[in-house]
Amino acid sequence: METTLIILKPDAVQRGLSGRIISRFEEKGLKIVGMKLMQISQDLASTHYEAHRERPFYAGLVKFMTSSPVVVMAVQGVGAIAISRSMMGATFGSKADAGTIRGDFGVSNSFNLIHGSDSPEAAERELKLFFKDGEVLSFERPGDAWVYDMSSGSPE
Ligand code: RTP
Ligand code: MG
Repeated sequence: METTLIILKPDAVQRGLSGRIISRFEEKGLKIVGMKLMQISQDLASTHYEAHRERPFYAGLVKFMTSSPVVVMAVQGVGAIAISRSMMGATFGSKADAGTIRGDFGVSNSFNLIHGSDSPEAAERELKLFFKDGEVLSFERPGDAWVYDMSSGSPE
């Protein structure tokens, strides 16, 4: 099981797309184990995107991410990191395939609706940045018996 950090960026919240995007994760069978609306501080945005600090788009990216509230989610499932990235689509809305979140809901390259951790290391780091102890929950969903084939003892 993996848990990944998903952020519905300010454009997703302002455009009233949060519910439809959240539904995609639920419909896929992934489990939302943490979720909140928050305004990202300058410090948090800088730390979260520190790998991009030297890139020309960094200042604009931090400004955008702190400009208005976001929805942050901890999303869990087998292979949740790669599955979420494929659901998001390519970074730029103008390039993202139809059927993906970025491909279906946006055309902009910088207002690209959603963030998802890109590796297990990034997920672990980013979840700690956005969720305090106790904010990511552990609970059963009986319906998961129909999301995963458990006949081998582990989810397939
Ligand atoms: P994210 O981190 O937000 O999930 O997006 P990503 O992995 O698909 O893309 P990444 O390379 O990590 O870039 C982070 C965010 O920076 C903006 N960006 N602008 N103008 C540009 O060339 C450019 N490249 C990246 C995007 O908002 C991207 O989501
Ligand atoms: Mg990234």
